[in-house]
Amino acid sequence: MKTVETLDVIVHTISLASATSRSYELRAPDGALPSFEAGAHIDVHLGPSLIRQYSLCNSPQDTGRYLICVQRDDAGRGGSRTLHRDLTVGQRLRISPPRNHFPLVTSSRYVLVAGGIGITPLLSMAEALAARGAAFVLHHYTSSQATAPLLERLQTSAFAERTVIHRSDQGDSVRAGLPTELLTPDPDTAVYVCGPDGFMTHVTAQATAVGWQPGQIHTERFTPAAPPPAGGEAGTEFTVRIASTGIGYPVPADRTIADVLTANGVEVELSCEQGICGACLTPVLVGEPDHRDEVQTPDEHAANTQITICCSRARTPELLLDL
Ligand code: FES
Repeated sequence: MKTVETLDVIVHTISLASATSRSYELRAPDGALPSFEAGAHIDVHLGPSLIRQYSLCNSPQDTGRYLICVQRDDAGRGGSRTLHRDLTVGQRLRISPPRNHFPLVTSSRYVLVAGGIGITPLLSMAEALAARGAAFVLHHYTSSQATAPLLERLQTSAFAERTVIHRSDQGDSVRAGLPTELLTPDPDTAVYVCGPDGFMTHVTAQATAVGWQPGQIHTERFTPAAPPPAGGEAGTEFTVRIASTGIGYPVPADRTIADVLTANGVEVELSCEQGICGACLTPVLVGEPDHRDEVQTPDEHAANTQITICCSRARTPELLLDL
């Protein structure tokens, strides 16, 4: 059975990152925190059923603390409002260890394209790439100077000259055209895109249209592209079997695998419950998943070795899970 691992941290510093966003520096009470890779995120436990994912935006070499930056979203699901309203310096918080489903691949060059608060994982990547002397450029699209998250940090960074700030209130939005480096596809360049759904969909579609291969474009979503369908592909029930006990559980069309396992006392790790964080990824031993997550790459989906049990289903009558 899976043990849900969490860490205790202290809110060490809170600072304004723009008119609408705040940076939170988290430290461990004993000074030690697990290392992380650029692109990683943590789950922040804000309440019994309020767990939210935030990318780490400090350099992976910057050990001993985690930095997150959160934009207040009054139309969101409540996580950012709670953080902005309730979190105070000195407060203890429970978080997950860093988890990375947005890792930097090995490439000769990198183009990082951020929309708004999507700058957070890409800022950590830029720090990591700068530290290793890699060739990269960072484009940050914002609506205005006042609302641009982490602008001061970008402008004073070691890679400020490789950072291009685009402001839509000055007519410079991604709708006006792709960044120069994306106008011509290059097989030796990896592209990373993070931001609101519409932004990522637009950049990905435009880049693909000029010839970039889908495998070169790496994205991370903060919200699911579409709400996961409740039922199976044909609305049918399937069985999920647990390898450690041999017990099989029917999963009706209107319930998730995680629901069924939890109701039967099987401990599973859950966080976003929307297929975007990867907390519930579970190895599959036999059977073919019907993947409905945004976490795994198309190649990982095709390999069928892991399943997000919060939202994905089965294409075969039975799935055997390594639990
Ligand atoms: S709990 Fe986040 S992907 Fe399943």
